[in-house]
Amino acid sequence: MAPALNTVPFVSVEHMMRLVLAIGVERFLTELADFIAADFRRWESFDKTPRLAAHSVDGVIELMPTSDGTTYGFKYVNGHPKNIRSGRQTVAAFGVLADVGHGYPVLLTEMTILTALRTAATSALAAQYLAPPRARTMALIGNGAQAEFQALAFKALLGIDRLRLYDIDPAATAKCLRNLAGLGFTLQPCASIAAAVEGAEIVTTVTADKQNATILTDNLVGAGIHINGVGGDCPGKTELHPDVLRRCEIVVEYAPQTRIEGEIQQLPFDHPVTELWQVIAGRAPGRRDARQVTLFDSVGFAVEDFSALRYLRERLGTYPFFTELDLLADPDEPRDLFGMLLRAQARAAA
Ligand SMILES: NC(=O)c1ccc[n+]([C@@H]2O[C@H](COP(=O)([O-])OP(=O)(O)OC[C@H]3O[C@@H](n4cnc5c(N)ncnc54)[C@H](O)[C@@H]3O)[C@@H](O)[C@H]2O)c1
Repeated sequence: MAPALNTVPFVSVEHMMRLVLAIGVERFLTELADFIAADFRRWESFDKTPRLAAHSVDGVIELMPTSDGTTYGFKYVNGHPKNIRSGRQTVAAFGVLADVGHGYPVLLTEMTILTALRTAATSALAAQYLAPPRARTMALIGNGAQAEFQALAFKALLGIDRLRLYDIDPAATAKCLRNLAGLGFTLQPCASIAAAVEGAEIVTTVTADKQNATILTDNLVGAGIHINGVGGDCPGKTELHPDVLRRCEIVVEYAPQTRIEGEIQQLPFDHPVTELWQVIAGRAPGRRDARQVTLFDSVGFAVEDFSALRYLRERLGTYPFFTELDLLADPDEPRDLFGMLLRAQARAAA
């Protein structure tokens, strides 16, 4: 039987959760990181453009497209730090994969959970090349929606098992402590950022504020640490003092986008940076010595979402957690779109 042309596999939030739990969060993160690494190794095959951002007073709505010539993908994502006051997520997303040959979507999915997973997998992947070897302790500053995913990715990919947690809102830290209890971490809530970074070999900043914040100042950054800067991802929304940046070896995802959105928006436009794909493909070094301060200036790039969608589509073959969504008009004769409407009218009247 010919496949139905009107339907598209759709992964709801409920199905995404069942899939992640069936695979296991840490295995999901590890396999997803492998997909991201594989796509970063073939960086040249992707169409790349800084994402299309619609800014407003309270946040941003972004479209993130890319294609490898065979498959096309895009994500719709917002960033609204005040949303939690109305019970909404700061970041919510959905996405599509499509076949370049005929242009029809082949997958439609929730991507709020998938974004948290792909962001964490990318951070941990970068840290495999940039963090001090055998690091075990990470400061986690910002204990919101992304935090546990970051923690588990660093555990799965690097063996991080000691976390030092800080958030301006103690309720967020309490939530993290609850969620991460029993998952193999030694958890230390901290009273300040300074206390959290003490003894940490990796510092993850994942706060949300619609303005330039200063989470890390120069005096807090000791020699040899790796900074995983996740929360600064929009023009005018950063987390690190520029003095910190001037001391760092900086790795970004896609420089034309990060120079607009990342921590490096605070530096001159020609400040030297390395792109992560270069490090993964062995074309640029990762960490070179024990005293170097490294920064992964993460903003989130379309290729990571493409990898996540590609991974999801493949896993749905084993775990069929999706429904078929009647998304595409499919008249008996392709040019008879209006006739299809008339036939529906006749059926409704019968
Ligand atoms: N780089 C990427 O790919 C990527 C992907 C997803 C989200 N993000 C960004 O990560 C950030 C966090 O996202 P989220 O979904 O966890 O948001 P969230 O709103 O759920 O959590 C943010 C947390 O940061 C805390 N916070 C705010 N200011 C702080 C400060 N000065 N010090 C300590 N804590 C502070 C808040 O209290 C809150 O608990 C956002 O800025 C988001 O835009 C980046």
